Amino acid sequence: MSSQKYSRGIRFAELLMRQEAIVRRHIPGWAPLEFESRRVVEVGCGPLAGFGPLAIFCGATMFESAEPEWDEALFHSEPIRERYLRTFHADLVGLYGERMRFADFTAALKERMRITCGGFQTAPIVGPVDVVLSQSVLEHVFPLSETVAKLAEIQTPATRFLHLVDFGNHYPTSSPFEGLYDVTPDEYIARRGKAINCLRAPDVAATFEKVGIAVRLIPSRRAQDGYRGAIHPSWRSRYDDDALFTQLALVASPA
Ligand SMILES: C[S@@+](CC[C@H](N)C(=O)[O-])C[C@H]1O[C@@H](n2cnc3c(N)ncnc32)[C@H](O)[C@@H]1O
Repeated sequence: MSSQKYSRGIRFAELLMRQEAIVRRHIPGWAPLEFESRRVVEVGCGPLAGFGPLAIFCGATMFESAEPEWDEALFHSEPIRERYLRTFHADLVGLYGERMRFADFTAALKERMRITCGGFQTAPIVGPVDVVLSQSVLEHVFPLSETVAKLAEIQTPATRFLHLVDFGNHYPTSSPFEGLYDVTPDEYIARRGKAINCLRAPDVAATFEKVGIAVRLIPSRRAQDGYRGAIHPSWRSRYDDDALFTQLALVASPA
């Protein structure tokens, strides 16, 4: 709760609006993701249930996720209810109307959110699911192929999905690629630990396509001046400038 990122639940609605606006520029027929009467899944929702409260408020029948840092008792505790969910609910009412009162909202979160503590790849989630989301998670999972194999298990061709992936170093450096490109991916992981998997956008798209999930890969932030530091040949030999300098990308379903 001390993190600014985690103190504003409504940021999940804002993120989704921005991301869908970007997707619509690339897929003109993209209709807004619907939660009403849908089964919604999120990969790695974070300790405050990520898109869960938004999805439940907007009518999802069930929200499921797997998150290694999940603590069910903490999420439903009084401080989280009063310091996070109350304002989140008020902001949702402002945005979508009073679809449910606060007491009904917190009751619905208990009844209709099923979040397990652990990795998504082994989550007890069964398909078919209607909507799948993730926010800055696919770059953190090791190996990505296992998480995507789980998605293939629970998705159908009708499942709509949107994943935001951050390919930067996750540090507040002037370039998002500082310290990353001057060593090989293996060296970077050995040095920093298993924080980011060092895959680039084409690798993520290929991982989905390998298990039969068609995707649209949409860059949403490219580093303006590329990267002026040294780039190790192991990156240069595998990736073009687009792949190297895309910091944020959306992995979206084709419609
Ligand atoms: C940068 S945080 C993003 C959290 C949340 N999506 C948000 O936007 O606030 C990355 C999250 O991925 C989770 N994570 C890492 N490996 C995972 C895995 N194998 N399965 C599910 N979640 C995982 C971490 O615990 C962490 O909460």
